[in-house]
Amino acid sequence: MDRLIIEGGTSLRGAIRISGAKNAALPLLAATLLTEDRVRLSNLPHLHDITTMLELLACMGVEAEIDERLGVQVDNTRMHSHTAPYELVKTMRASVLVLGPMLARFGEARVSLPGGCAIGDRPVDQHLRGLEMMGAQVGIEDGYILAHSPGRLKGAHIPLEIVTVGGTENLLMAATLAEGQTIIENAAREPEIADLARCLVAMGAKIDGIGTHRLCIDGVDQLHGCDYQVMPDRIETGTYLVAAAATRGTVRLREADPSLLEAVIAKLREAGAEINEGEDHIELDMQGKRPNAVQVKTAPYPGFPTDMQAQFTALNAVAAGTGTITETIFENRLIQVGELNRMGAQIKLEGNTVIVSGVEKLSSATVMASDLRASASLVIAGLLASGSTIIDRIYHIDRGYECIEEKLQQLGARIRRIPA
Ligand code: EPZ
Repeated sequence: MDRLIIEGGTSLRGAIRISGAKNAALPLLAATLLTEDRVRLSNLPHLHDITTMLELLACMGVEAEIDERLGVQVDNTRMHSHTAPYELVKTMRASVLVLGPMLARFGEARVSLPGGCAIGDRPVDQHLRGLEMMGAQVGIEDGYILAHSPGRLKGAHIPLEIVTVGGTENLLMAATLAEGQTIIENAAREPEIADLARCLVAMGAKIDGIGTHRLCIDGVDQLHGCDYQVMPDRIETGTYLVAAAATRGTVRLREADPSLLEAVIAKLREAGAEINEGEDHIELDMQGKRPNAVQVKTAPYPGFPTDMQAQFTALNAVAAGTGTITETIFENRLIQVGELNRMGAQIKLEGNTVIVSGVEKLSSATVMASDLRASASLVIAGLLASGSTIIDRIYHIDRGYECIEEKLQQLGARIRRIPA
């Protein structure tokens, strides 16, 4: 397996481009199943998870033409299977997002249960409960979700029992082709859901309440193709901002949208960063200062994103003072603590909160990546540590960060990939 080696101790300086959002591109690719017309998506990030989703669509007979700028044109007119197999779903939970579109378009779907992952058991009960409320017959057999809709799905009033991004996305996509009106109450408000909704509207869907907790969808008989550009990745943006703040650097992130990460920017300002926001860029300047420790508690959007808490744990590890990070979304998403402590961090775990006493310097070590965002915190720690840090199992990082070593090299980091 590839490894990353990082010579720590340099402040990040310079400018990079932010890629398209992984967590918008994945539901958008699933949404192409809703029409027999061709859909063209641009600004797709070059990530392992995107490749997995394209493989999943391909194994069902969907054809995707990828151009040199990683735009993709999807054609499902020769689709021959409605099964999302375990071999692919087990490598990427977001595969479950094909369930709603397939059921709505073809009346049937067989999708492997995604199962748990490092950060939690991650059930999909809300996805299934909502589809049943729309008239689908749903069962579990041999580890697969078997869903069947005798006729067209029926619009329904669906009060979600938990704020779920994937659940909202699956039900939103299914509702676009249902007969009648669907109301999704307590819908998640992550910006990636609004990006999906805007693409569905471009395909002819009728959706009100985009960006709110209450989505109102009037089903239509069919959707048509469209061209759509994926929004910028707010978590990639936040990750590079935190890396720059932790290393006391100065960076400019192009093709970024500051309005997508207000909670993160507020915390970085509390940590002492000077931040300038533009229409399509963000600049952060630490002026060479050590960051101040901050208190973070994750929450559904527009609260502080769970996908940024590991990165802030690394920031607090070298900050002045004592910081706390409380994770409220996933039951096991503080797994980066052990490896950070091996690098000299002073972190105590109390339930779903970590208490971080900042130290001046971390020390290098060989560490192991465990999940996507915990891996990002190890990269940040490597940038901070004196000496060479080696990170194993970096396939986790390749799932969510496009060309991470090239982008960090552009910012002056001494980082390289050691092929297996
Ligand atoms: C999406 O996952 C993101 N993934 C995650 O990003 C992100 O951390 C998460 O939303 C929260 O923001 C994609 O968009 C591909 P949820 P998702 O359903 O949809 C519970 C990353 O690092 N729940 O909002 O799977 C669940 O267990 C990834 O890019 C149920 O109980 O998250 C969790 O505790 C990691 N029943 C909470 O809700 C359900 O039916 C939030 O999960 C569904 C979810």
